[in-house]
Amino acid sequence: MAALVITNANNKGGVGKTTITVNLADALAREGFSVCVIDLDPQSNCSQHLSKTLIDPDRSIVNVLQAADDDLPLDFDSFLTETIIDNVKLLPSTLKLDGLESDIHNAYVNPLLVLKRRIEPLLDQFDIILIDTAPSLGLWLRMALTVSSKVIIPADTSGQYTMQGTKDLQKFIKQVQRDVNPELETLGAVATKVTATNASQAVMGLLSIQFNMFETVIHSATVITESQLAKMTVLQHARTSRCAKEFVNLAREVLSRCGLQPKRKNKPGPKSKTTVSTLATQELEAAS
Ligand SMILES: Nc1ncnc2c1ncn2[C@@H]1O[C@H](COP(=O)(O)OP(=O)(O)OP(=O)(O)O)[C@@H](O)[C@H]1O
Ligand SMILES: [Mg+2]
Repeated sequence: MAALVITNANNKGGVGKTTITVNLADALAREGFSVCVIDLDPQSNCSQHLSKTLIDPDRSIVNVLQAADDDLPLDFDSFLTETIIDNVKLLPSTLKLDGLESDIHNAYVNPLLVLKRRIEPLLDQFDIILIDTAPSLGLWLRMALTVSSKVIIPADTSGQYTMQGTKDLQKFIKQVQRDVNPELETLGAVATKVTATNASQAVMGLLSIQFNMFETVIHSATVITESQLAKMTVLQHARTSRCAKEFVNLAREVLSRCGLQPKRKNKPGPKSKTTVSTLATQELEAAS
Protein backbone atom coordinates (compact mmCIF):
# COMPACT_ATOMS: atom_id res chain seq x y z
CA MET A 1 0.00 0.00 0.00
CA ALA A 2 1.30 3.46 -0.84
CA ALA A 3 2.29 5.59 2.14
CA LEU A 4 -0.28 7.85 3.72
CA VAL A 5 1.06 11.39 3.37
CA ILE A 6 0.04 13.84 6.11
CA THR A 7 1.01 17.53 6.23
CA ASN A 8 0.97 19.64 9.38
CA ALA A 9 -0.01 23.13 8.29
CA ASN A 10 -0.72 26.52 9.78
CA ASN A 11 0.40 29.83 8.30
CA LYS A 12 0.67 31.21 11.83
CA GLY A 13 4.08 30.66 13.43
CA GLY A 14 4.85 28.94 16.70
CA VAL A 15 1.55 27.07 17.02
CA GLY A 16 3.09 23.61 17.52
CA LYS A 17 3.45 22.22 13.96
CA THR A 18 6.97 20.94 14.51
CA THR A 19 6.25 19.71 18.04
CA ILE A 20 3.33 17.69 16.70
CA THR A 21 5.33 16.36 13.72
CA VAL A 22 8.17 15.10 15.94
CA ASN A 23 6.00 13.58 18.66
CA LEU A 24 3.39 12.20 16.30
CA ALA A 25 6.18 10.48 14.36
CA ASP A 26 7.31 8.75 17.55
CA ALA A 27 3.80 7.82 18.64
CA LEU A 28 2.94 6.44 15.19
CA ALA A 29 6.19 4.44 15.09
CA ARG A 30 5.25 2.94 18.47
CA GLU A 31 1.96 1.85 16.93
CA GLY A 32 4.05 -0.19 14.49
CA PHE A 33 4.22 2.10 11.46
CA SER A 34 7.36 2.95 9.51
CA VAL A 35 7.47 6.73 9.27
CA CYS A 36 9.40 9.19 7.14
CA VAL A 37 9.43 12.85 8.21
CA ILE A 38 10.01 15.43 5.50
CA ASP A 39 11.10 18.82 6.78
CA LEU A 40 9.84 21.43 4.33
CA ASP A 41 10.67 24.44 6.48
CA PRO A 42 13.92 26.39 5.93
CA GLN A 43 14.03 27.01 9.70
CA SER A 44 14.88 23.26 9.97
CA ASN A 45 13.64 22.96 13.56
CA CYS A 46 12.24 19.52 12.89
CA SER A 47 15.55 18.34 11.40
CA GLN A 48 17.51 19.72 14.32
CA HIS A 49 15.25 17.94 16.79
CA LEU A 50 15.07 14.60 15.01
CA SER A 51 18.44 14.10 13.33
CA LYS A 52 20.83 11.75 15.09
CA THR A 53 23.86 13.47 13.58
CA LEU A 54 24.71 16.97 12.41
CA ILE A 55 22.80 17.63 9.20
CA ASP A 56 24.84 17.23 6.03
CA PRO A 57 24.01 20.36 3.97
CA ASP A 58 24.50 18.36 0.74
CA ARG A 59 21.96 15.68 1.65
CA SER A 60 18.70 17.51 2.23
CA ILE A 61 15.31 18.24 0.72
CA VAL A 62 17.08 21.06 -1.18
CA ASN A 63 19.16 18.51 -3.14
CA VAL A 64 16.07 16.39 -3.73
CA LEU A 65 14.17 19.36 -5.17
CA GLN A 66 17.19 20.49 -7.22
CA ALA A 67 17.85 17.06 -8.74
CA ALA A 68 17.63 17.06 -12.51
CA ASP A 69 14.68 15.21 -14.03
CA ASP A 70 17.24 12.88 -15.64
CA ASP A 71 18.27 11.68 -12.17
CA LEU A 72 14.80 10.30 -11.38
CA PRO A 73 13.98 8.04 -9.64
CA LEU A 74 16.23 9.23 -6.82
CA ASP A 75 18.22 6.87 -4.66
CA PHE A 76 16.91 7.98 -1.27
CA ASP A 77 19.47 5.98 0.72
CA SER A 78 21.83 8.91 0.28
CA PHE A 79 19.28 11.51 1.42
CA LEU A 80 17.44 9.92 4.33
CA THR A 81 18.95 10.47 7.77
CA GLU A 82 18.70 8.31 10.88
CA THR A 83 16.67 9.91 13.64
CA ILE A 84 16.48 9.72 17.41
CA ILE A 85 13.44 7.43 16.93
CA ASP A 86 13.61 3.78 15.82
CA ASN A 87 11.62 3.18 12.66
CA VAL A 88 11.55 6.89 11.74
CA LYS A 89 13.70 8.37 8.94
CA LEU A 90 14.15 12.03 8.10
CA LEU A 91 14.54 13.97 4.88
CA PRO A 92 16.10 17.04 6.47
CA SER A 93 15.87 20.68 5.49
CA THR A 94 18.43 23.46 5.51
CA LEU A 95 18.27 27.24 5.36
CA LYS A 96 19.15 26.97 1.64
CA LEU A 97 15.52 26.02 1.00
CA ASP A 98 14.73 29.69 1.54
CA GLY A 99 16.41 30.76 -1.69
CA LEU A 100 15.04 28.00 -3.88
CA GLU A 101 11.44 29.11 -4.50
CA SER A 102 12.07 31.33 -7.52
CA ASP A 103 14.45 28.76 -9.13
CA ILE A 104 11.73 26.10 -8.93
CA HIS A 105 9.08 28.56 -10.18
CA ASN A 106 11.23 29.47 -13.18
CA ALA A 107 12.37 25.95 -14.05
CA TYR A 108 9.03 24.10 -14.21
CA VAL A 109 5.72 24.51 -15.99
CA ASN A 110 4.00 23.06 -12.94
CA PRO A 111 6.23 23.62 -9.89
CA LEU A 112 3.62 22.14 -7.57
CA LEU A 113 4.27 18.67 -8.92
CA VAL A 114 8.04 18.70 -8.31
CA LEU A 115 7.91 17.34 -4.74
CA LYS A 116 5.29 14.77 -5.70
CA ARG A 117 7.43 13.39 -8.53
CA ARG A 118 10.64 13.45 -6.53
CA ILE A 119 9.38 11.57 -3.48
CA GLU A 120 7.49 8.89 -5.38
CA PRO A 121 10.02 6.14 -4.40
CA LEU A 122 9.37 6.89 -0.72
CA LEU A 123 5.69 5.98 -1.05
CA ASP A 124 6.63 2.29 -1.33
CA GLN A 125 9.22 2.43 1.46
CA PHE A 126 7.11 3.80 4.32
CA ASP A 127 3.66 3.44 5.84
CA ILE A 128 3.31 7.10 6.73
CA ILE A 129 5.05 10.27 5.55
CA LEU A 130 4.69 13.32 7.78
CA ILE A 131 5.52 16.74 6.32
CA ASP A 132 6.42 19.63 8.59
CA THR A 133 5.86 23.01 6.96
CA ALA A 134 6.81 26.65 7.46
CA PRO A 135 4.39 29.31 8.75
CA SER A 136 3.51 30.57 5.29
CA LEU A 137 1.00 30.04 2.51
CA GLY A 138 3.83 29.81 0.00
CA LEU A 139 5.12 27.37 -2.59
CA TRP A 140 6.39 24.79 -0.09
CA LEU A 141 3.01 24.42 1.60
CA ARG A 142 1.30 24.23 -1.78
CA MET A 143 3.72 21.47 -2.82
CA ALA A 144 3.18 19.61 0.45
CA LEU A 145 -0.61 19.75 0.10
CA THR A 146 -0.35 18.62 -3.53
CA VAL A 147 1.35 15.38 -2.51
CA SER A 148 -0.68 14.81 0.71
CA SER A 149 -3.87 12.91 1.25
CA LYS A 150 -4.47 14.45 4.71
CA VAL A 151 -3.77 17.74 6.45
CA ILE A 152 -3.71 18.42 10.19
CA ILE A 153 -3.98 21.97 11.51
CA PRO A 154 -2.25 22.56 14.84
CA ALA A 155 -3.89 25.58 16.49
CA ASP A 156 -2.43 27.46 19.44
CA THR A 157 -4.99 28.25 22.15
CA SER A 158 -2.64 30.40 24.22
CA GLY A 159 -2.77 33.59 22.19
CA GLN A 160 -5.35 36.12 21.13
CA TYR A 161 -4.29 36.03 17.45
CA THR A 162 -5.02 32.31 16.91
CA MET A 163 -8.03 32.96 14.70
CA GLN A 164 -6.17 35.46 12.52
CA GLY A 165 -5.41 33.89 9.16
CA THR A 166 -7.35 30.68 9.74
CA LYS A 167 -9.91 31.66 7.09
CA ASP A 168 -7.02 32.25 4.65
CA LEU A 169 -5.64 28.81 5.48
CA GLN A 170 -9.02 27.15 4.89
CA LYS A 171 -9.41 29.03 1.61
CA PHE A 172 -5.91 27.97 0.59
CA ILE A 173 -6.66 24.29 1.33
CA LYS A 174 -9.90 24.53 -0.68
CA GLN A 175 -8.00 25.99 -3.64
CA VAL A 176 -5.50 23.12 -3.57
CA GLN A 177 -8.40 20.63 -3.39
CA ARG A 178 -10.17 22.30 -6.31
CA ASP A 179 -7.17 22.90 -8.56
CA VAL A 180 -4.63 20.14 -7.96
CA ASN A 181 -5.54 17.58 -5.31
CA PRO A 182 -9.22 16.67 -4.92
CA GLU A 183 -8.17 13.74 -2.67
CA LEU A 184 -6.85 16.07 0.02
CA GLU A 185 -8.84 15.84 3.25
CA THR A 186 -8.58 18.02 6.36
CA LEU A 187 -8.33 15.50 9.21
CA GLY A 188 -9.01 18.22 11.76
CA ALA A 189 -7.46 20.91 13.92
CA VAL A 190 -5.52 20.04 17.07
CA ALA A 191 -5.74 22.48 19.98
CA THR A 192 -2.24 23.04 21.36
CA LYS A 193 -0.83 24.80 24.45
CA VAL A 194 -4.21 24.31 26.12
CA THR A 195 -4.59 25.59 29.69
CA ALA A 196 -7.48 25.69 32.13
CA THR A 197 -7.78 29.47 31.74
CA ASN A 198 -10.96 31.07 30.46
CA ALA A 199 -9.01 32.56 27.57
CA SER A 200 -7.70 29.18 26.38
CA GLN A 201 -11.17 27.62 26.68
CA ALA A 202 -12.68 30.57 24.78
CA VAL A 203 -10.18 30.16 21.92
CA MET A 204 -11.02 26.43 21.80
CA GLY A 205 -14.68 27.39 21.48
CA LEU A 206 -13.91 29.72 18.57
CA LEU A 207 -11.77 27.09 16.87
CA SER A 208 -14.51 24.49 17.12
CA ILE A 209 -16.91 26.79 15.25
CA GLN A 210 -14.50 26.93 12.34
CA PHE A 211 -12.82 23.50 12.38
CA ASN A 212 -13.57 19.87 12.93
CA MET A 213 -11.50 19.54 16.13
CA PHE A 214 -9.55 16.48 17.25
CA GLU A 215 -10.89 15.22 20.58
CA THR A 216 -7.31 14.97 21.78
CA VAL A 217 -5.85 18.29 22.88
CA ILE A 218 -2.20 18.99 23.68
CA HIS A 219 -1.96 20.88 26.96
CA SER A 220 0.71 23.45 27.62
CA ALA A 221 3.56 21.43 29.11
CA THR A 222 7.13 22.19 30.16
CA VAL A 223 8.17 18.63 29.21
CA ILE A 224 7.94 19.80 25.59
CA THR A 225 10.79 22.31 25.99
CA GLU A 226 12.69 19.90 28.24
CA SER A 227 12.46 17.12 25.67
CA GLN A 228 13.64 19.49 22.91
CA LEU A 229 16.69 20.46 24.97
CA ALA A 230 17.44 16.80 25.66
CA LYS A 231 16.96 16.05 21.95
CA MET A 232 14.32 13.49 22.76
CA THR A 233 10.66 13.08 22.02
CA VAL A 234 8.20 13.57 24.87
CA LEU A 235 7.52 9.83 24.88
CA GLN A 236 11.24 9.14 25.29
CA HIS A 237 11.81 11.88 27.83
CA ALA A 238 8.74 11.69 30.04
CA ARG A 239 6.90 8.54 29.11
CA THR A 240 4.37 8.68 31.94
CA SER A 241 3.55 12.39 31.61
CA ARG A 242 0.11 13.64 30.59
CA CYS A 243 1.71 15.17 27.52
CA ALA A 244 3.15 11.81 26.39
CA LYS A 245 -0.28 10.22 26.75
CA GLU A 246 -1.78 13.03 24.71
CA PHE A 247 0.59 12.31 21.81
CA VAL A 248 -0.26 8.59 22.00
CA ASN A 249 -3.97 9.49 21.91
CA LEU A 250 -3.41 11.92 19.05
CA ALA A 251 -1.65 9.21 17.01
CA ARG A 252 -4.52 6.80 17.66
CA GLU A 253 -7.06 9.42 16.69
CA VAL A 254 -5.12 10.20 13.51
CA LEU A 255 -5.03 6.48 12.64
CA SER A 256 -8.71 6.10 13.35
CA ARG A 257 -9.63 9.17 11.29
CA CYS A 258 -7.55 7.66 8.45
CA GLY A 259 -9.26 4.28 8.85
CA LEU A 260 -6.04 2.52 9.94
CA GLN A 261 -5.60 0.00 12.75
CA PRO A 262 -2.48 0.07 14.99
CA LYS A 263 -0.03 -2.59 13.83
CA ARG A 264 1.33 -3.65 17.22
CA LYS A 265 1.16 -2.97 20.95
CA ASN A 266 3.10 -0.02 22.37
CA LYS A 267 6.74 -0.59 23.13
CA PRO A 268 7.94 1.44 26.14
CA GLY A 269 10.64 3.97 25.33
CA PRO A 270 13.88 4.44 27.27
CA LYS A 271 13.76 6.11 30.67
CA SER A 272 14.20 9.84 30.64
CA LYS A 273 16.74 12.37 31.88
CA THR A 274 16.44 16.15 31.78
CA THR A 275 19.69 17.22 30.18
CA VAL A 276 20.79 19.27 27.22
CA SER A 277 22.05 16.70 24.71
CA THR A 278 25.61 16.89 23.39
CA LEU A 279 24.33 17.10 19.83
CA ALA A 280 21.96 19.94 20.71
CA THR A 281 24.97 21.78 22.17
CA GLN A 282 27.05 21.11 19.03
CA GLU A 283 24.22 22.40 16.85
CA LEU A 284 23.96 25.58 18.92
CA GLU A 285 27.73 26.09 18.64
CA ALA A 286 27.69 25.44 14.88
CA ALA A 287 24.87 27.98 14.43
CA SER A 288 26.55 30.73 16.47
N1 LIG B 1 1.94 22.10 24.12
C1 LIG B 1 2.96 22.94 24.31
N2 LIG B 1 3.25 23.40 25.55
C2 LIG B 1 4.27 24.25 25.75
N3 LIG B 1 5.07 24.71 24.79
C3 LIG B 1 4.84 24.30 23.53
C4 LIG B 1 3.77 23.40 23.21
N4 LIG B 1 3.79 23.16 21.89
C5 LIG B 1 4.82 23.87 21.39
N5 LIG B 1 5.43 24.56 22.37
C6 LIG B 1 6.57 25.48 22.24
O1 LIG B 1 6.16 26.52 21.36
C7 LIG B 1 7.22 26.86 20.48
C8 LIG B 1 6.72 26.73 19.05
O2 LIG B 1 6.43 25.36 18.81
P1 LIG B 1 6.73 24.72 17.40
O3 LIG B 1 8.13 25.01 16.98
O4 LIG B 1 6.28 23.33 17.43
O5 LIG B 1 5.73 25.59 16.50
P2 LIG B 1 5.69 25.71 14.90
O6 LIG B 1 4.28 25.94 14.54
O7 LIG B 1 6.39 24.58 14.29
O8 LIG B 1 6.53 27.04 14.67
P3 LIG B 1 6.99 27.61 13.23
O9 LIG B 1 5.75 28.14 12.62
O10 LIG B 1 7.98 28.68 13.55
O11 LIG B 1 7.56 26.48 12.46
C9 LIG B 1 8.38 25.96 20.80
O12 LIG B 1 9.28 26.65 21.62
C10 LIG B 1 7.77 24.80 21.56
O13 LIG B 1 8.63 24.31 22.54
MG1 LIG C 1 8.00 24.57 12.92
